Formats: sequence, C-alpha cells, structure tokens
Amino acid sequence: MFKSGKAAPWIAFCIAAFVGASALADAGTRYGFGTPIAPADIAPWNIDVNGLTGAGLPPGSGSVAQGAQIWETKCAACHGEFGEGAGRFPVIAGGAGTLKDDVPQKTVGSFWPYAPTLFDYIKRAMPFPAPQSLTNDEVYALTAYVLNLNDIVPKTAVLDATSLAAVHMPNRAGFIKARWDTKNVVCMSACKPAPVKITSDLVNLHVTPDEHESGNVGSTSAAMSLPAPAAAAAVPAVTFADVAPIIAQRCTVCHSAKPTQAGFTSAPDGIAFDAPARIKAQSAQIVGQAVRTHQMPLGNLTHMTDKERALVGAWVAAGAPLP
Ligand code: HEC
Ligand code: HEC
Repeated sequence: MFKSGKAAPWIAFCIAAFVGASALADAGTRYGFGTPIAPADIAPWNIDVNGLTGAGLPPGSGSVAQGAQIWETKCAACHGEFGEGAGRFPVIAGGAGTLKDDVPQKTVGSFWPYAPTLFDYIKRAMPFPAPQSLTNDEVYALTAYVLNLNDIVPKTAVLDATSLAAVHMPNRAGFIKARWDTKNVVCMSACKPAPVKITSDLVNLHVTPDEHESGNVGSTSAAMSLPAPAAAAAVPAVTFADVAPIIAQRCTVCHSAKPTQAGFTSAPDGIAFDAPARIKAQSAQIVGQAVRTHQMPLGNLTHMTDKERALVGAWVAAGAPLP
C-alpha cells in the first residue's frame, strides 16, 4: 500500500498526529530538525466522508453506465459481474429483507445505513490490490453502479456530492443506539446494600492461586486477610488424581479415539484425552474451553459442574502435574 512516493507525507502525518502541531513547530527550532507539515501534504490523506451528512464528498460525478464498465475490469473478478461475489469474496448486492433470517445476508444494499459511506469505502480501500488508485469520477460511477445493482438508484442515475448525500438507504432506520444492557441504577456513593456476606471466592474455588501457594506475597489482600504461610500450606494441592475422573466423565466420552457418547465415532477435532500425557499437553485448550469459557463440554451434555471446572483450572494453574 505504501509505495515509496507516498511514504514520506504519511510518516510526516503520523509525527504530526502524535507529537501535536505546536510541539512539532517547536521541534524545528528547539531540536533543529523537521519542518511543519504543509496543509497541501495532509490534504491527500484527508479523504474521510461523513456517512450521515456526506460532508467531505469531493467534486466530481459518475453514472451507472460508466460504473458498469469500470466494475467489469476492476471489480467483477472478485465481487462477480452483478455483485453476487466470486468464490469467497464479499457479496455486494442482494439480501434485501434477510436481516432477521437465521443466516442474514448483509450487503451494501441490505445492511449499510448510509450511501456516502460507500463512496468513502471504495475510494479508500478498493480495488483490494490497488487501494486509492481510482479517481473521484470513477468512484462516483462505481458507487452509482453498486447502488443500482441493489435497486436503490435507477439505471439512468448520475451521482455527485449532492445527489449521493440525498440517497436514502433501505436499512437506514435499522440500527439502534447502543445502550447498557443492565437495569442497575447508577450509583456513586454508599452503594452496597448492607450487610454484605461473601459466600464464595475464587481463591477457595482454586481458580485464583493462593498468594502463598504461588509465592506471590506482598499484595494488599495477602497483607490484610490471608492466614500465615504455615496454615496456607495446609490447603491440599490439586493432583491429577482429582482431575482424571472429571476429564474421563465429562470429556473423554467424546474426546477419545473410541468415544462412548452416542453419535460420536472419532475424537472431535482430533482432540483425545485417553492418555494422561495428552491431557497435560492439551491443558491450555482445556482451560480455554472448559474453565475460562463454558464452550465445553458441548452443550454441557455431560453436566460438568462449576466446582469441577475450578478444580481443573487449579490443576493446570499448578503446572498440570502428573503422578
Ligand atoms: C482482489 C479482490 C477484490 C477486488 C478486485 C475488489 N474487491 Fe472489493 N472487496 C474485496 C475484499 C476481500 C473485501 C472485504 C474487505 C474487508 O472486509 O476487509 C471487499 C469489500 C468490498 C466492499 C464492502 C462490502 C461489504 O459489504 O462490506 C465493497 C463495497 C467493495 N469491496 C467494492 C469494490 C469495488 C467497487 C471494486 C472495484 C473497484 C472492488 N471492490 C474490487 C476484494 C476485492
Ligand atoms: C458431547 C461431546 C463432547 C464432550 C462431552 C466434550 N466435547 Fe470438546 N468438542 C466436541 C466437539 C464436537 C468439538 C468440535 C467443535 C467444533 O469444532 O466446533 C469439540 C472441540 C473441543 C476442543 C477444540 C476446540 C477448539 O476450537 O479448539 C477442545 C479443546 C475441547 N473440545 C475440549 C473439551 C473438554 C476439556 C471437555 C470436557 C470438559 C469436552 N471438550 C467435552 C464434543 C465434546
């Protein structure tokens, strides 16, 4: 993307962005290097278009017919003659009314809320192998063609900054403003309902290693609440003997070279826990799937409990010791 000629202003722009304009001006005198970046050097990079208002759309224009021709040579190889998508490249047209389906087809026409965004996107990013190689007229023409493929503008349409900003996309009203998904009331002082009773904590569940067990002394909670090291040492370590029956019962019914779970004929994803060494070798994935997340057991078919998950987590945290 950054051919030699374009790299220099880009780097200058980054410096300006990080250091700030006044610091950069100072640098010229204080450190004796650099020059303030000229607005003309920034201009070619300042191509963002406001989707809602169309602000930033440049002069120029293009028709559906012109767009069809450019599309044929520069876009169809990936996106298909009529935007249907070639191979696994994105589909650009169609999908109207599918957003509530099990497999919604999100295209420019069915999904995008604002038309000027299409100009911005094509100008900035397409064609994929040569981004920012198109003229503004070509981008207007391609924008018109893509909107026509989606039955949003007629075959005769010619688009420029004004007419593009006026195009109303079908899914314009389909987005909601993000909002918190909790009904809690905001509270900034005296918030906890007294009295608070702690019924369980991660150290006792063996999810968070005990500060003393792991040798990580010195944190505030250790100083305040933990018993003396001698007492902590009495907490029994989780051994493979604790974990092996859990894995066997909850996982190996499927994850075995010869699964016993109905419907399974081989180890899913090639992952088998038949031998202790395999369990240890795959302990990071086990934690990822069954402790940190509850992806496994699949659909919790084997009814793994939270306590069992915590025990497996503690065993792995202790280095997954084998007998
Ligand atoms: C070499 C293959 C290739 C070519 C050629 C190509 N594109 Fe793309 N196009 C892509 C890929 C890949 C993406 C998805 C990029 C991403 O998501 O980061 C994409 C995404 C798009 C999208 C956004 C689709 C969406 O709904 O998110 C549009 C619009 C688009 N291209 C238009 C064009 C236009 C116009 C041209 C011709 C000037 C073109 N593309 C040429 C590969 C290509
Ligand atoms: C009812 C059968 C079944 C049980 C029980 C089961 N799994 Fe799985 N497991 C699967 C299937 C099927 C896949 C492949 C899922 C996929 O590819 O989307 C899988 C995939 C995995 C993977 C690989 C996932 C990835 O994306 O890398 C891991 C790791 C795993 N299981 C661990 C476990 C652990 C640990 C247990 C027990 C706590 C367990 N599974 C219990 C059926 C099961």
